[in-house]
Amino acid sequence: MTYTTQTRVLVVDPQHPEAEVIRTAAATIREGRLVAFPTETVYGLGANALDSAAIARIFQAKQRPTTDPIIAHIAAPSQLNELAVNIPPKAFALAQAFFPGPLTLILQRAPHVPENIAAGLNTIAVRMPAHPVAQALIQAADVPIAAPSANTFTRPSATTAQHVLEDLHGHVDIVLDGGATTIGLESTVLDMTQSVPVVLRPGGLLLDDLRALIPDIQFAPRFVKEETAASSPGQMLKHYAPRAAVTVFTGERRAVLQAMQLAALEHLQTGKQVGVLVADEDRSLFDPRVVVRSLGADLHEIGRNLFAGLREVDARGVDVILVRDFGREGLGAALWDRLVRAAQGNIINMN
Ligand code: TXA
Ligand code: MG
Repeated sequence: MTYTTQTRVLVVDPQHPEAEVIRTAAATIREGRLVAFPTETVYGLGANALDSAAIARIFQAKQRPTTDPIIAHIAAPSQLNELAVNIPPKAFALAQAFFPGPLTLILQRAPHVPENIAAGLNTIAVRMPAHPVAQALIQAADVPIAAPSANTFTRPSATTAQHVLEDLHGHVDIVLDGGATTIGLESTVLDMTQSVPVVLRPGGLLLDDLRALIPDIQFAPRFVKEETAASSPGQMLKHYAPRAAVTVFTGERRAVLQAMQLAALEHLQTGKQVGVLVADEDRSLFDPRVVVRSLGADLHEIGRNLFAGLREVDARGVDVILVRDFGREGLGAALWDRLVRAAQGNIINMN
């Protein structure tokens, strides 16, 4: 079963969203329908977080397994109390420091919050996005908004309204087009229900910033094959996957680039079309037949452009995409996580 509907695109000013546009979108949320909207991380596919039928439409539209829980978005830290109970003091401290922003807290779910948003778990993921359109929409709807990333299940996340339409045209009622998102990688997901907080997904908020407040935070990246994924939501290995086969090369930069050049030539010799994703400094190194997409000069640009780059190179019809590793420092941790998933574990280690 899938959710089908007419899709309307409403252009909205990302800094000063027009009240009329927001009113229309908020009314659609209150009717139990779906609105895709920009956040500072990626576009979300939103529905009323307190309406289980509306939440079910998100799962249908995305073709997302109902075992994967969804984040509830709020417009003020005080709304944490509308969704969660027994909130630990550390969670309030984190909210104070990092809301609004790219941080999602997993807390104990309040009994009135629908079970299906949490895929049956007794927890709830909550985040307050730092984007004027997202905030205005949540405020006007006057309910928290459940929103996964606005892509079809396993596809790269959407960082523009165009990406949303590529995946969800005819499956979402309104797309608020507020331009490209600024961070481009999803929020950092932090489980606050354990005695030691655990990072479940590295993201836009840096681990070092979290550690400054909670030094003993745990982060142990885990990549799980589909069959065992139900018990560990969101850690599925196949994720962010383009149609082309992705290989990620890790190790010292020069060795990595040499290996990528060689691999590109070998693929070309067997008649394959090759795309590469690199940094600005690497762009001139490849055979002219290779589709080269530079993601930028620094980690912020690279993070902002990763999903768009995967989609663009894929749309050129290449058979294989070769990507270089950008390290693990700062946003590098989140980038590496997305790359390993896009490559479905297909990693070549040059160390
Ligand atoms: O930046 C973001 O987080 C974006 C924007 C739209 O806010 N949203 C997003 O949602 O990335 P989604 O559904 O694509 O990813 C949410 C992640 C998934 O890995 C999911 O498994 C995890 O958060 N998650 C949600 N609720 C959870 C819960 N109760 N327990 C454990 N993990 C949870
Ligand atoms: Mg997602």
